[in-house]
Amino acid sequence: MKVLIVYTTRYGTTERVAKSVKKLLEEKGHTVDVNRVEENLSSAGYELVILGAPVYRDGPHWDMMEWIGEHREELEDVPKAFFLVAMHLAGSVFMGKLHGGIAYAKPLIDAFEVPPFYGTLIGGEIDPEKLSDEDRKKMRRFYAVLGERLEKKSLFKEKDVKAFVRRTLLYYDWFGKHFKRGELDMVKDFDFMEKVKEVEGNAQG
Ligand SMILES: Cc1cc2nc3c(=O)[nH]c(=O)nc-3n(C[C@H](O)[C@H](O)[C@H](O)COP(=O)(O)O)c2cc1C
Repeated sequence: MKVLIVYTTRYGTTERVAKSVKKLLEEKGHTVDVNRVEENLSSAGYELVILGAPVYRDGPHWDMMEWIGEHREELEDVPKAFFLVAMHLAGSVFMGKLHGGIAYAKPLIDAFEVPPFYGTLIGGEIDPEKLSDEDRKKMRRFYAVLGERLEKKSLFKEKDVKAFVRRTLLYYDWFGKHFKRGELDMVKDFDFMEKVKEVEGNAQG
């Protein structure tokens, strides 16, 4: 199928993930275009759009949110999946409020009438030496909140990218392809556990 990956990045990790997703999809015979949000291209004419953004300041990068805002109408007509690149993967409850983890994805869900059918977090990377002075200051604060020190670290794992691609294709097939305007009703009764049982049965039989 024809897939578009739209991403933004500041220090390159999300770009690396986007390129890796492209390669994995191509290996499975799909046709893939990769665009940076800054190119501000249209998503019309694709069968699947994958949004990729790093998490900055507790949410998907604002350039991605802006691109979504500008292209929302056409994005309602195409199934969407996303990956967010972040450091605070597990998430926590901080001062009584959800903080980090998959809660980072809320703006990406709330932005649409027909939300993405699948999305997950991918581990990011941080190298204090490469950060701008301003970003280094902000990151020191971020890690202080987590009770840690800012130091070079990577949570990136290629196997997580592989799992993202595998699941995106699987769920696209199961229900994702109908996550577009006018077709959502076709999957409103989709029973995830029934499907899992069916797959288990096939594997045993
Ligand atoms: C200024 C700044 C703010 C960040 N804020 C968050 C955050 O709120 N939560 C988080 O999990 N990671 C945060 N990160 C970590 C980035 O998501 C991580 O470094 C990611 O790999 C960056 O992706 P990129 O190289 O594509 O820009 C922040 C990083 C910087 C430099």
